[in-house]
Amino acid sequence: MARRSNPVYCAVDTVDLPIAARLIRSVAGNAVPAVGGIKLGLEFFLAHGAPGVRYAFPAPVKATGIGFFLDLKLHDIPNTVAGGIRAVVELEPTYITIHTAGGAAMMKAAAETAAAEAARLGIARPRLLGVTVLTSLDKSDLESTGVAAGPAQQVLRLASLARNSGLDGVICSPHEIVALRRECGKDFVLMVPGIRPAGSATGDQKRVMTPSDAMALGANHLVIGRPITEAADPAEAAQAIARDLEAF
Ligand code: C5P
Repeated sequence: MARRSNPVYCAVDTVDLPIAARLIRSVAGNAVPAVGGIKLGLEFFLAHGAPGVRYAFPAPVKATGIGFFLDLKLHDIPNTVAGGIRAVVELEPTYITIHTAGGAAMMKAAAETAAAEAARLGIARPRLLGVTVLTSLDKSDLESTGVAAGPAQQVLRLASLARNSGLDGVICSPHEIVALRRECGKDFVLMVPGIRPAGSATGDQKRVMTPSDAMALGANHLVIGRPITEAADPAEAAQAIARDLEAF
């Protein structure tokens, strides 16, 4: 079965604007991009803001139809998070992240604002994805913040709350895919980092999975950074991953 689109979002984690621009051009600037989307996060956005996004990821590259994941992990009172969302909708992100621990009212305000602002601008609504339990936290970290549930249970609780509060999906570890798919249904977006093609360096990622295994378990998108960005030829590295995923 032929795949509908490339599920890989390339994580561009740098504060160096020319390096980011060159990398994005190489993996996304061709008629057939080597990745399905670009992820820009806190590091890049705090350094360069919206003008940096417009420079590194210009309209002609976007026009290839490539996805744009703005990984801001917003977490504040509902009014402030809604204001933050409103400020970035004009960049036409496909996905924006917010923390589910901000609660139902915050998530609802974010979802309503994303839809309303996109409608006002006449552009596609950004999809909102929730961050549940950071993979850097273990059971004792949760206990120290007053959360008695273990990480696996808390991930499901927060994902369920996110779904009921109007979010489109969550970011999750490859090892959470099966339980989240069961809990949240087939239409809930699962965006999955912690991915390593067979044979590549794991770096600081501890519990990795290959791209095809994560897709087989039910991921919608994969976030892959260093195996692409640190390759001698990032476009070729991304194309090799895409070839491995042709069945999905
Ligand atoms: O280079 P690498 O493939 O490890 O990059 C993964 C990307 O996914 C980084 O941008 C990282 O911040 C993000 N991420 C992660 N693990 C999580 C959540 C996000 O690696 N649990």
